[in-house]
Amino acid sequence: MPSIDQERRLLPTYEYKQDLIDAIREHSFLVVIGETGSGKTTQIPQYILEEMPEMKKIGVTQPRRIAAITVSKRVSEEHGTPLGKDVGYLIRFDDHTSSSTRLKYMTDGILLREAVQDPTLSQYSVVIVDEAHERTLETDVLFGLLKKTHRLRPELKILVMSATLDVEKFSDFFDECPIFEIPGRTFPVQIIHHQSMKINALKSNFVSTAVETAFYIHTKEKAGDVLVFLTGQADIDRACQEFKDKCNELDYNRDVKYYDVEDEEQVKDVSVYPLYASLETMEQRAVFELSRRGSRKVVFSTNVAQTSVTIPGIKYVVDSGFVKEKSYDPNTGMDALLVTSISKAAATQRAGRAGRTAPGKAYRLYSSESFEQLPDDTIPEIQRSSLLSTVLALKRMNIVDVLNFEFIDKPDETLVMKALSQLFLLGAIDNHGVITELGKQMSQFPLSPYLSRVIISSAMEYECSEEVLTIASVLAGDNDLFRAPSPRQGEDLIAEAEKCKLKLAHHSGDHMTILNVWNEWRRNDESRRWCRDNWVNHKALANAKSVRSQLIDIANQLKLPMVRTRRIEVERTNGGKKEGRSKEVVREVDAVPVLKSFLTGYYTNIANKASGRSVFSHYAPDQHLAEKSSHTSSALVALYLHPLCALSDMFDRNKTRYSQIEWVMYMHVTYTNRAVMKGVSKILWDWVRSGKGHERIRQLATAHLNGVDKKKFDKKRKQLLDDSSAQASSVESSDTE
Ligand code: CDP
Ligand code: MG
Repeated sequence: MPSIDQERRLLPTYEYKQDLIDAIREHSFLVVIGETGSGKTTQIPQYILEEMPEMKKIGVTQPRRIAAITVSKRVSEEHGTPLGKDVGYLIRFDDHTSSSTRLKYMTDGILLREAVQDPTLSQYSVVIVDEAHERTLETDVLFGLLKKTHRLRPELKILVMSATLDVEKFSDFFDECPIFEIPGRTFPVQIIHHQSMKINALKSNFVSTAVETAFYIHTKEKAGDVLVFLTGQADIDRACQEFKDKCNELDYNRDVKYYDVEDEEQVKDVSVYPLYASLETMEQRAVFELSRRGSRKVVFSTNVAQTSVTIPGIKYVVDSGFVKEKSYDPNTGMDALLVTSISKAAATQRAGRAGRTAPGKAYRLYSSESFEQLPDDTIPEIQRSSLLSTVLALKRMNIVDVLNFEFIDKPDETLVMKALSQLFLLGAIDNHGVITELGKQMSQFPLSPYLSRVIISSAMEYECSEEVLTIASVLAGDNDLFRAPSPRQGEDLIAEAEKCKLKLAHHSGDHMTILNVWNEWRRNDESRRWCRDNWVNHKALANAKSVRSQLIDIANQLKLPMVRTRRIEVERTNGGKKEGRSKEVVREVDAVPVLKSFLTGYYTNIANKASGRSVFSHYAPDQHLAEKSSHTSSALVALYLHPLCALSDMFDRNKTRYSQIEWVMYMHVTYTNRAVMKGVSKILWDWVRSGKGHERIRQLATAHLNGVDKKKFDKKRKQLLDDSSAQASSVESSDTE
């Protein structure tokens, strides 16, 4: 085994160390490209740290939180100092830096926030935007801001690092700066397409096909590790299980005749790993270690292994052709994570993972005709998302004319307009397009503007911030609160899990159910055991706890009062018909102020249904009211309850109650084969109609949200500039992921 120092010297970047340093000294903008795994992320910032003492602080951005953590751990190890000393990381809700940190890895969202607070980025001598090819929304906005920073502070060094070759665009954007190319050392990769599979037809069964292909490789191909690209935690966990089952059924002695390879090349031992952006999977060291002789590693991964992390020893790649991506859904006006087919550039990157240390093979589960039909490049996130937080961030930086912001690729103008009207509906900007006090407060929370709005109104209007903060902390995470046994675990367990869920459910729906679960968990000393016994996801609650305390810090800094809502007395009927019913009066949290708070953020996410039916219609009041004349049937979308919804249980158990539901509010929509609502609670139409927000819908038509009404706007802007220096932001930065 080479020492960590030797490992460093073996990387392709090493030969170019001096040239890189010279280039950085000479230019203020520099684009660096090189194959994934060549040492850009871990080495280049270290060269600056070690060889350029004149550089004070180096900031490096990563699109993924998980990359910021693992890379900074690796680099502090290589540098020989404890994490958080010379080398550290800062991501939302997690700070591992100190006053002596000179090399700071962070998410692009964090640097974006820092640029909002201090447009000169005065703490840094060098800023490196890494993984620029990923073109996250934050990265794209950063580009625009960095150009501004450069005008204010020409001595700041700005590096853009990217894996793909299409970097002319970056160079063009940054005043045609030089491109430093680190030649790759890659081996040929043989590409094997499926003979006839069309990518659209593959969509419904790519997981099992991927498992079969990985199994084929395991039983028919020579030694070498396998990397399978899937889309998310659920399909990866399923694939791992299916693959293990297949291996367990395999009798090597009996099945050995199926082997095409010679005896000494046979691999019988296999270890299976999931890899997705949770710390547990990223911290299994074994994934990142070479396999023993005679043993094979099979890794089922999300896109994180495409360019962000490098797993050594991969000789075979299985490319499902799919990725999970944030996409804007114009029907509902929301962002949702959708499984979509990848681009040609992504497919090429994926195949490339097989040829890092030796010749390899890439199995594509789709035909070569399908490959030809894929788009050349992945569409930048900015062109497929709702832009809400971004536009708010820009407004907060006093960039009122968002439509003319210096974007590397301009976002779709109609999406910007849509974001502007949503921000107006939330009360974050006024009718001259200028950020309001409320909007400023909202932008301090590292949450979606919708949730931030909810928290603020729970404190300022409805006196239930304690409860709402709890619910929002759970909703801010992306883990489901309840665990569902898989069908193979048997009917009994499924029934048991259902029973637990029903016991914890609140009749109004998911928001209050979350609160019930949280309270029960606290009553049971936050025990893991209680979670296990009740089919509750401990991780979701533990995460929420840490998020909650950080949200409370922000709320305190904003001087938002923390108040518990009142308890009300309700009559509860116990027992079934046989035992004879008994009535008892219990005290419970009043759901009304809690739900009304949520409605201040989500009053455009509502749906209604006719009694006796199970399908809801999305109600788009902004379209109904503001564009009365042009309103078409596109405002109506069929929506269904997600099976994990509390209200959905009640439907199964008690159809009468379900038929009483008329209006619901939902947090977001996901897509399976149909549009499914998640985070759903019952509401009353009256609450919507009498809400403050609803009035804004009417005002929308006459507002100048991009600050077009010049005269009024200039007056406002002056006023804003005058008092913004007086109240320099006191809130700690955190990213907007
Ligand atoms: O950024 P780029 O893809 O060019 O390469 P890198 O991330 O700097 O990785 C360089 C080398 O460091 C690779 O061989 C990785 O396997 C290794 N590495 C590691 O062992 N542990 C990490 N957490 C990150 C990188
Ligand atoms: Mg990298």
